[in-house]
Amino acid sequence: MAGYKLPRRLHGVEAEAAFAVLAAAKKVEATGRRVAHLEIGDAGYDTPEHIKEAAIRALREGKTHYTPTTGIPELRQAIAESVKKDYGVEIDWEKNVVVANGCKQAILASMLSILEEGDEVLYPNPGYPEYEAAARFAGAKPIPYRLTIEDEFKIDVNRIAELITSRTRLVVINTPHNPCGSIMRREDVKALVELSEDHGFYILSDEIYRPFLYNGEKHHSPLSIKGSLDRLIIADGFSKRYAMTGWRIGYALIPEELMTTVFKLLNVMTSCPSSISQWAALAALTGPQEPVYEMQRGYERRRDIAVKLLSEVDGIRFAKAKGSFYMMIDVSKLLNKLKMDTERFVMMLIEKYGVAFLHGTALGSYGEGYIRMSFSVSEDHIIDGLEKFKRAANEILSS
Ligand SMILES: Cc1ncc(COP(=O)(O)O)c(C=O)c1O
Repeated sequence: MAGYKLPRRLHGVEAEAAFAVLAAAKKVEATGRRVAHLEIGDAGYDTPEHIKEAAIRALREGKTHYTPTTGIPELRQAIAESVKKDYGVEIDWEKNVVVANGCKQAILASMLSILEEGDEVLYPNPGYPEYEAAARFAGAKPIPYRLTIEDEFKIDVNRIAELITSRTRLVVINTPHNPCGSIMRREDVKALVELSEDHGFYILSDEIYRPFLYNGEKHHSPLSIKGSLDRLIIADGFSKRYAMTGWRIGYALIPEELMTTVFKLLNVMTSCPSSISQWAALAALTGPQEPVYEMQRGYERRRDIAVKLLSEVDGIRFAKAKGSFYMMIDVSKLLNKLKMDTERFVMMLIEKYGVAFLHGTALGSYGEGYIRMSFSVSEDHIIDGLEKFKRAANEILSS
């Protein structure tokens, strides 16, 4: 493409690498070999029937037209109701709730609405890649704060505090965490809220995995600690909670002063979210919640199987997930033996052993030396994949 020049603002904006790994795995599968998929960030269950039925009903009733940009009032009201129940905080559906095409879009629009060129955004690394990409989109400066295995990948507020400057505009947190499976403790969330009040930065708290906590752990949100959305954005959605990743429907809770701008951004980007998905999401929120509890129990069982099998693999380290459906595995010892980087290692595991993970560098620079496993997949994939991984580790260590 002669003469094409990438706009400077988009330098460093990367697409999610998970899709490249999936393509490599599909190539191996096309030769007739089986690949265990532990790289996937998708829900491991099908969308519950009553939600599908609501979508079909919406179609039949002709609810197939544009809706208001930030969502149908029924859904926004139901979200506000659920916030009252889950967080004990009263919010206003017209002033504080925006529905978007997935939590990802809600994050992008919210970040664009507050960031000025040159502003600094602190974000977890390893972490969900959207935070860094959205900061770059906005012309802001993404500054990673590191999560380490020695700390069980906990978000450490002291580390965040060291990075705060007069340009810090936003601090992003994610609990339960993708890809580390860690959760934030109440005292850390509270300390961050205090820092935000002292320094005047916004917090964006991505809580999309909040139903998936294990061993009776509790979710701690800055919203319930603060009791208001003052300088606080909560990103959430239906993708994981109701196994609706392909429906592209999510939302953000935002302070009132951002509403006009977020409205404009969403309007410019997509006019409105899918009408059918919105009616389905309304049924998800207002219908029986038993399917969510069932998924939570299912993921906990899968995590326990994964932890048991990973404990039998030599030459690696990992931290047991407390939430979400991922774990980061330190494979640096195996990489040193092979003199290989993480990305090549992942490709080698797919091609030679038939098991796919996501390379940690897809989740930030501090992911080098790590691979992410997802335990949202069926038990069969977990068992097959981790047996193959164990064999690979044994062969590498004894070579
Ligand atoms: C931490 C985190 N936030 C947000 C999202 C995006 O969710 P959605 O499918 O609703 O856009 C994901 C998806 O993997 C995620 O892991």
